[in-house]
Amino acid sequence: MPIVEPNLDEAILEAVERGLLTATTEMPHASVYLIAVPTPFRGDHEPDLRHVRAATEAIAPQLRGGEVVILESTSPPGTTERISEWISDLRPDLKLPHMGGIPDVHLAHCPERVLPGRIMVEIFTNDRVVGGLTPECAERAAELYRTFVAGEIVLTDATSAEMAKLTENAFRDVNIAFANELAEICDHLEVDVWEVISMANHHPRVNILQPGPGVGGHCIAVDPWFIVSAAPEQARLIRAARETNDARPRTVLTKVAEAVAASGHSGGFGDSFSDSGGDSDSAGAGDSDGVGVTIACLGLAFKADIDDLRESPALAITETLAAEHPDARILAVEPHVSRLPATLAALPNVELVSTQEALREAQVVVLLVDHAAFRAISLGELRGRQLVDTRGIWRREAVA
Ligand SMILES: NC(=O)c1ccc[n+]([C@@H]2O[C@H](COP(=O)([O-])OP(=O)(O)OC[C@H]3O[C@@H](n4cnc5c(N)ncnc54)[C@H](O)[C@@H]3O)[C@@H](O)[C@H]2O)c1
Repeated sequence: MPIVEPNLDEAILEAVERGLLTATTEMPHASVYLIAVPTPFRGDHEPDLRHVRAATEAIAPQLRGGEVVILESTSPPGTTERISEWISDLRPDLKLPHMGGIPDVHLAHCPERVLPGRIMVEIFTNDRVVGGLTPECAERAAELYRTFVAGEIVLTDATSAEMAKLTENAFRDVNIAFANELAEICDHLEVDVWEVISMANHHPRVNILQPGPGVGGHCIAVDPWFIVSAAPEQARLIRAARETNDARPRTVLTKVAEAVAASGHSGGFGDSFSDSGGDSDSAGAGDSDGVGVTIACLGLAFKADIDDLRESPALAITETLAAEHPDARILAVEPHVSRLPATLAALPNVELVSTQEALREAQVVVLLVDHAAFRAISLGELRGRQLVDTRGIWRREAVA
């Protein structure tokens, strides 16, 4: 099992042992097909449907009539209908749902909402949206989900189902962007964003999220672009949220520059990094100006307490820091991985070290992910270091 997911290993093993699950690289005939292939974007954030198309083209020759094809991949509006058209191009002998009338093959979209780490619970308990190209398509697909889903099954049309899933992730992205924009505003006004949000959240109908170094993962940072691409004139707020969140890593890099300058170790950075002046009184370990600075980057994952580095802003920040400043020594700390990802391993000035070693060696400590292991660090261990805390965890400790 290549995927780290509680209880999945046992479930797969049992299904294989009972003869209920086999794997093949040849497309078999089946009464129900689930398409759950990647849906990335390319170029200027245009959806890349080539995997969905390849899967569809593999399924098409197998169809005999009576099958249900369900798209589970998070997809741009209209993708389920395009699958219907693609099949129709390859199989003019079949009547597909987009053609009207009673189809030979039923097509529906049922977006997946499971949270990695809780998949084997949520796959049963979550509510499901099932959108058919026709009401009969939705009903036929829902029959499958009723066999194992304990949550509610909500029937709709395919495009509404596609939009519902994208809306869930865009909602999250816009709310995170709001918190990130507040961070920029509060920095400008020299007030503490964490305190401002905490006070605002005392209002009974306000629940602002926490700012951070950007948005990662292969869902929230990707899916809103599918809405922007489908309705560029209308999706102004959703686009602005994406741009706000994508700009956060650069803001963090500027803060690191200021911290390096304040540490008195700016020499290793050269002139390009910062000209904001230094205060060698506040320097931590090591002490002479002109010596390459050592920076600890705490966390590489895209969110707390997981090992997933996909689309991670923490990883991007660490890479940029190391690549743009080859004289700086970068100590990456990621308790959830045992070796550096290839992009960092290729850089000669980056090492993967323990939290203790990083705190001992670094003059500048950059907190990028609020892993539990980092929340356990006491302020005493950070004394004398320049801190860039993108998650506000040490600030909260200082206040508590
Ligand atoms: N992982 C999640 O938690 C999650 C949650 C909700 C939605 N989704 C959505 O589900 C989709 C898949 O995500 P994932 O994380 O499982 O991706 P993944 O890259 O981990 O897995 C996709 C699988 O599809 C296979 N594949 C690619 N092309 C194929 C083809 N033509 N025929 C057959 N198989 C093919 C790949 O070999 C791979 O095993 C995406 O649209 C994603 O946005 C994922």
